[in-house]
Amino acid sequence: MNITWHETSKQFHLYNDRISYVLYVQPNGELGQLYYGKRIHDKKDFRYVVQHQWKALTSYFDMDNAFSLELNLQEYPSFGSGDYDAEAFCLVEENGSRISNFIYQEHRIYEGKAELPGLPATYGTAKEVMTLEVTLKDAVSGALLILSYSIFDRTSVIARHAEFRNVGEQHLLLDRALSACLDLPDADYDWMQFSGSWGRERFPVIRKIGTGTIAIESRRGHSSQNANPFVILKRKETSEIQGEAIGFSFVYSGNFLAQAQKNTDGRLRIVMGIHPETFSWPLAPGESFVTPEVLIGRSEEGLSGLSRIFHHLYNDHLVRGYWQNRPRPILLNNWEATCMDFTQERILDIAKKGKEAGVELFVLDDGWFGARDDDRRGLGDWVENPKKLPQGMKGLAEKVNEMGLKFGFWIEPEMVNEDSDLYRAHPDWILSVPGRKSSLGRWQLVLDFSKPEVVEYIYDMLYRVIKDAPISYIKWDMNRSISECFSIGKDPAHQGEVYHRYILGVYDLYERLRTAFPEILFESCSSGGGRFDAGMLYYAPQAWCSDNTDGEDRCLIQYGTSFGYPISSIGAHVSAVPNQQTGRAVPIRMRGNVAMFGAFGYELDLNEISDDEFEIVKEQIAFVKEHRMLLQYGDLYRLRSPFEKAQAAWISVSGDRKEALLAVHTMRATVNHLPERLKLAGLDPECLYQLGENSYYGDELMEVGLPMKDACLPGYRIDQDDSSVVLYLKAQA
Ligand code: DGJ
Repeated sequence: MNITWHETSKQFHLYNDRISYVLYVQPNGELGQLYYGKRIHDKKDFRYVVQHQWKALTSYFDMDNAFSLELNLQEYPSFGSGDYDAEAFCLVEENGSRISNFIYQEHRIYEGKAELPGLPATYGTAKEVMTLEVTLKDAVSGALLILSYSIFDRTSVIARHAEFRNVGEQHLLLDRALSACLDLPDADYDWMQFSGSWGRERFPVIRKIGTGTIAIESRRGHSSQNANPFVILKRKETSEIQGEAIGFSFVYSGNFLAQAQKNTDGRLRIVMGIHPETFSWPLAPGESFVTPEVLIGRSEEGLSGLSRIFHHLYNDHLVRGYWQNRPRPILLNNWEATCMDFTQERILDIAKKGKEAGVELFVLDDGWFGARDDDRRGLGDWVENPKKLPQGMKGLAEKVNEMGLKFGFWIEPEMVNEDSDLYRAHPDWILSVPGRKSSLGRWQLVLDFSKPEVVEYIYDMLYRVIKDAPISYIKWDMNRSISECFSIGKDPAHQGEVYHRYILGVYDLYERLRTAFPEILFESCSSGGGRFDAGMLYYAPQAWCSDNTDGEDRCLIQYGTSFGYPISSIGAHVSAVPNQQTGRAVPIRMRGNVAMFGAFGYELDLNEISDDEFEIVKEQIAFVKEHRMLLQYGDLYRLRSPFEKAQAAWISVSGDRKEALLAVHTMRATVNHLPERLKLAGLDPECLYQLGENSYYGDELMEVGLPMKDACLPGYRIDQDDSSVVLYLKAQA
């Protein structure tokens, strides 16, 4: 890894073994781009790729030189000075001008990577990452723009963000401040996004890039089920195993925009950042604004290769502290078993059976506080309900601990019911517009987390419950999208800040709780997977993936989620059948086999299943304990997409390629046909792997493939509806 500066050509070259990124100071002083892609030799000058040419209806910065912003690849473009494509930012001056010309002043190259104040971000040591900060100045407004680029040593990822500093005299307004722009010389890519809705989160959607703009966005106040802040550009021929793929991940949990624009010259511009339509930020003299981070990863080993880049990046450089790269505890959650209708005895009964099965952590879900007997009341009152918890959280946690289980519980700190003591005491603490009706979602209103006093109050309430009890885990839920986003009492000029300040408040509360209780494992949740984003993973290393726990649907949801997020982060539980969402009765074997490729657990009353099923549960838990690191932290290769056939397959391979776990799940059987061969991936071609009674070379398994018939798949059948296997492969010594 290195970052070189070539003074005479004014070029920066960021590179490691895999990628190169070449930037330069353009003839007008603004920052342009010369190359992004596979690693190339370092060289003093790459300016031969710059287009200085005449073209009709083009605005030239320098007519003599034929230099135009429109014709060249830009780094962080503004609109209005000759570049007509999507802009990265817009700074408004006191006189109403929206034009900026940020000119190179100086730069700094250093080992390591600075934190982003109040924001989640990747991190690394001086040996692991290097950073380039380029300072540019707009002489008229007096503002500084600092563009930051960090390159990691062992992975092909560049982290980017921007900072605006008002060092002038004017009162400025940032009307748009995206985090990154990447211009590419051709647009022969497909765009891949991960969209869905409640219960069907992160389904891959491929869109052909044509002339014009395509985008995904969230304006719901959270990253959302509908769109995920992770997108991929892939070449048409790119498969799971080979070909170029570029991924863009926004390390942020609020409103966002991710957009691709192919212009009529065939060039492609990707921009990503805070959604500009729900954002504006006044910058008084002396103030500054830092955008969240965008991560750009590039793979030549196909889509699975790109996923592995992000999986490792998040595990090694985003998840922090005690839970970094640690096996996730096998948990048992009571939500689907009891909803809010429980007594302490019932909870202890459920926990006891969990302990017998081998579970490690019990999680008490919604309903333990205030008057919370249904979803119309109680939210915001973080005081134990004495009828349900007679000895408080402490008493229950201690009883669960005495059984040999760790204990955790559920919170939804950002919300309030109208029927709650908190709302009665502080009706002005919600996001709402005075004089207008506030929309409700699940009978709840959204607390105004842009107000520090609200965050402070909730922190104190939660701190009291947590500090008294032996708590190992917290599930932080968020069950509605934001509407009527207005902060009561805030100056009108600052209302455009509220969506972003809300998220900063969420991050602040997370950070305070993490600091106070560093060993607590946080799991984020938003009505299932409505906040599955890289920003959250910085605070909560795992995320509840979906409220849809049906074994078949989970195959799709977890498969889609794995494109952008590591298996260690995907909260996945086995629940009862018939499934509460789909009515399907997927056998326990398949439900477990799917869930074990995740932060594994159960969400049912194990007292209510048959003895045979309970034996299978015990086997599953023992299996997960034995192979947990391989399941949660192995190198993942997706082999067969459930979006293409009614069968899914993937394999997780250990770093030394000596062990692997192959999963095959058949949703719908096809009768009377020859078994297909499944080509495995990621194995060592030279190794002989033991698979049940048989052994095969890695090259055989990857080139010839494994016939999907019982004789080759020891243990169980996969030729029936909802049949599934997880097979262990071990290299012979
Ligand atoms: C939505 C979550 O996704 C569920 O798992 C559960 O915690 C409920 N909220 C509780 O209200």
